[in-house]
Amino acid sequence: MAVAAATRIAVVVVVLALAVLAPAARGLRRDDFPPGFLFGAATSAYQIEGAYLDDNKGLNNWDVFTHLQAGRISDGRNGDVADDHYHRYTEDVDILHNLAVNSYRFSISWARILPRGRLGGVNSAGIAFYNRLINALLQKGIQPFVTLNHFDIPHELETRYGGWLGAAIRYTYMAKLISSSVVLSPQLQLKLNPVYVHMHVFREEFEYYSDVCFNAFGDRVRFWTTFNEPNLSTRHQYILGEFPPNHCSPPFGNCSSGDSRREPYAAAHNILLSHAAAVHNYKTNYQAKQGGSIGIVIAVKWYEPLTNSTEDVRAARRALAFEVDWFLDPIFFGDYPREMREILSSNLPKFTPEEKKLLQNNKVDFIGINHYTAIYAKDCIYSPCTLDTYEGNALVYAIGRRNGKIIGKPTALHGYFVVPEAMEKVVMYVNDRYRNTTIYITENGYSQHSDTSMEDLINDVERVNYMHDYLKYLSSAIRKGANVGGYFAWSIVDNFEWVYGYTVKFGLYQVDFDTQERIPRMSAKWYRDFLTSSSLTDGLQVRSRRADS
Ligand code: NOJ
Repeated sequence: MAVAAATRIAVVVVVLALAVLAPAARGLRRDDFPPGFLFGAATSAYQIEGAYLDDNKGLNNWDVFTHLQAGRISDGRNGDVADDHYHRYTEDVDILHNLAVNSYRFSISWARILPRGRLGGVNSAGIAFYNRLINALLQKGIQPFVTLNHFDIPHELETRYGGWLGAAIRYTYMAKLISSSVVLSPQLQLKLNPVYVHMHVFREEFEYYSDVCFNAFGDRVRFWTTFNEPNLSTRHQYILGEFPPNHCSPPFGNCSSGDSRREPYAAAHNILLSHAAAVHNYKTNYQAKQGGSIGIVIAVKWYEPLTNSTEDVRAARRALAFEVDWFLDPIFFGDYPREMREILSSNLPKFTPEEKKLLQNNKVDFIGINHYTAIYAKDCIYSPCTLDTYEGNALVYAIGRRNGKIIGKPTALHGYFVVPEAMEKVVMYVNDRYRNTTIYITENGYSQHSDTSMEDLINDVERVNYMHDYLKYLSSAIRKGANVGGYFAWSIVDNFEWVYGYTVKFGLYQVDFDTQERIPRMSAKWYRDFLTSSSLTDGLQVRSRRADS
């Protein structure tokens, strides 16, 4: 124990010494970003809170999935305790304060607020927890940047509605009634099918939940986002079947149920309409008096054509349409992109004229982008490929190498490479296509394998260089006219990385999950120096210093 503690202290001392010595030379400066720019760090409820049974919280889909299907998580672990943030939030707020960030992005656990959805009561202990957190942040001058839904939904809603497929289930039910040619009054339907009573479409559940949050916290929250990365989560849930409810079909995988070609689009449709309903409610009933803003967060990977053939150039464009335009086109233009309609035809749901109006009349105030990486896109319309991957439905094959050369240094997350210049491309793409709407980089970060040596985990030169280089390209996009309002590092602390469990580390602070001790990494010191100093900060010299040492 004593030896371990001494080693840890020695490592921290070395890290701090290296960081102090790191010359503030050429490179990046806080002033490269506009005044009022938000610089923050991000987390999500299931990944850090723990306390999964405390204070009347309901179980959510991830609680149940990680317990029943532990084998699907790399290390078989779960978020029962995670970073124990629920009990240690004051320490985490102090960490944020030490980092000198002016904003903190976190998500609210739906099952902590409404353990049984709208049919149960509001959990006052859940409301009290987020009130304490928000107040503690504001006392330190840190703006809360709140995500309403970051992958976790109350388990009861998953079972009652089939989660995000909820609306689809209702349609199926109606279709059955119609095809059986029995004409029933709504009252009789209710009598014959008690389940129908519970079949409020799922989006009404989300609208209700978001209303409870606006009402409880909106007097102090200036930044709301409805969903985190629905374009990524629906693919992991319903194409690849890696996230609950673990739906998929061949060639993507062999799950006990699912339809990888149809369900992700049905779920996404429902999410888009849930988003629009929440935005409509916020804009109609809260925005004027509370003075906040509302947006959505999309995962944006950049796609480079594998070759300069017309086919691969189109494939890269198509992959981007299936990644970004899938969600942002309906929100901005009222419909899905042409590329998706052409390929998916009847598997892509259609918006009614009223729904189109609801979407278009309730524009987001900002777009959140989670950006980490880039990859090559190869066309699969004119040349044969295996289509069992994330991009398969777009008839694209994504690959990290071109002529044997890798697109960027690999990270601990499979398929995530270090490609800093992609930051500028992503931002310019979103900025140009969606009419200069304010963009926040709501996540960006570097992952290390947990089996890396303690010294290298703490002395995270690669993370420093990653952040430095990505921020450089972000500042370049701003100079070219992109309207960017903030940047959030993922993440303040190591946490539960979904199917990777705790085997992958993203924290500016290392966490010892046995003791819950938080230990600052070199990147934490670097981020604070960058935010507090007016001189130039350089990632590259840290890189060469490390090589010399
Ligand atoms: C995306 C997700 O929003 C977050 O939950 C995840 O941990 C990071 N990116 C890293 O994969």
